[in-house]
Amino acid sequence: METAIIVLAAGMGKRMDSDLPKVLHEIAGAPLITHVLNTVKNLEPQKIVIVTGHGATEVENKVTQFEPDVTFVKQKIQKGTGHAVNCARSHLKDFKGSTLIVYGDVPFITADTYADILAMKEKNTDMVVLSFNSENPNNYGRLIVDNGELIRIVEAKDASIDELNIKLCNSGVICVDNDLLFDLLNKITNKNANEEYYLTDIVALAYAQNYSIKTVICEEPETLGINTRLELSHAEIVFQEKIRKLAVENGATLIQPETIYFSFDTEIGRDVYIGPNVVFGPGVTVESGAKILPFCHLEGCHISQGSQVGPFARLRPGTELSENVRIGNFVEVKNSIVSQGSKVNHLSYIGDTSIGENSNIGAGTITCNYDGANKHRTKIGDEVFLGSNTLLVAPVAVGNQSMTATGTIVTKDIPQGDLAIGRTKQENKTGYANKLMKLLKSKKKRKDP
Ligand code: UD1
Ligand code: CA
Repeated sequence: METAIIVLAAGMGKRMDSDLPKVLHEIAGAPLITHVLNTVKNLEPQKIVIVTGHGATEVENKVTQFEPDVTFVKQKIQKGTGHAVNCARSHLKDFKGSTLIVYGDVPFITADTYADILAMKEKNTDMVVLSFNSENPNNYGRLIVDNGELIRIVEAKDASIDELNIKLCNSGVICVDNDLLFDLLNKITNKNANEEYYLTDIVALAYAQNYSIKTVICEEPETLGINTRLELSHAEIVFQEKIRKLAVENGATLIQPETIYFSFDTEIGRDVYIGPNVVFGPGVTVESGAKILPFCHLEGCHISQGSQVGPFARLRPGTELSENVRIGNFVEVKNSIVSQGSKVNHLSYIGDTSIGENSNIGAGTITCNYDGANKHRTKIGDEVFLGSNTLLVAPVAVGNQSMTATGTIVTKDIPQGDLAIGRTKQENKTGYANKLMKLLKSKKKRKDP
């Protein structure tokens, strides 16, 4: 069965009190709508239509950066969920199959749950509503079920006291035969407490025409929607807990896990050790057996087997560490490749650089990669030994097995096997220190009253 997805994302998100459209607020470094799209993509849909409204251009620009193959349709005035879905009509008029309607601000429904809905839909069912039981059903729509058949959904505002006692709630997700969906949407009205076109009204309409309607029940936390900043921060906590648990279940060791922050796409291998207070920005992969010591900030980087990073290291985008590399304390690495067995152990900045195998970069080494207008590259070969406080003024190349003396400012290439010394020569003035100190102290006394 072919599947199309409609993502509702037009709502203003008034209660977020923000200039940013609601679905662009982030959990674990990714917009809410990205979480939704990443999950529904597992269903391999033929088409994804996103209904935008408030901040439509911003949402489109952001989403197309990582999802070029989606269609957008604008709902100019928000007249309800039924009206929103109807906006996608022209894009789905030739589609034959099941259409799954999801919300852009409900990020935690799992791929398994969506798959359950599609599986239920395939079993001679015309419509499937995802529901959950809640002890606190508040404003959720309630499912009216009779003899295992779903008859209709009543919105809280329109419900009777008896109906408000129902604990089975509408998640908002509905899967329905595409032709039937748009046929039923022709018939809904806005004669209700909100004067909105409710998508939920298609249930009663379908029931009246003898279509079969079922519900899949999931756990309440999956259906968590984001309406306020408080809910957003709560969702962040929930997501972090989930992703930490996953890392541990996959064989990683997390010390004080509640202090470790992951991004939505962090990949952690087996036997990886992560100390307290480590932050993973987007795009980090850590291979098996690597060790991240406390207080590191990592972003857009790859750490290979057996490497060790930190404590207090910062890896920025474009950093690639091969096997058994050491990056030590107060070291920043950006857009650089560090090959197997090399070490940058203390107080360094390595930017736009490639370092060969088994090289040792002395404490305080800085690549001077920026001239105020352009960035330049530094190339360091294999088995190089850079003395402490070496400055490498890029563009510059350092040959294999070469060395620098401590404090050298490298402004021209160093050939293979050479030693570069680039610092002013030291001179010792015999006895001068004693004389100078006497002089200074006598001056100080005269000044004191
Ligand atoms: C909706 C359901 C309710 C369900 C609840 C679950 C209806 C009528 N009610 O209520 O049964 O329990 O979700 O969270 O469907 N949207 C648009 N355009 C609009 C209106 C809404 O794109 O004109 C989008 C919103 O951005 C949001 C989603 O649809 O992503 C749900 O809208 P919302 O107003 O939050 O619906 P609820 O009143 O919470
Ligand atoms: Ca809502």
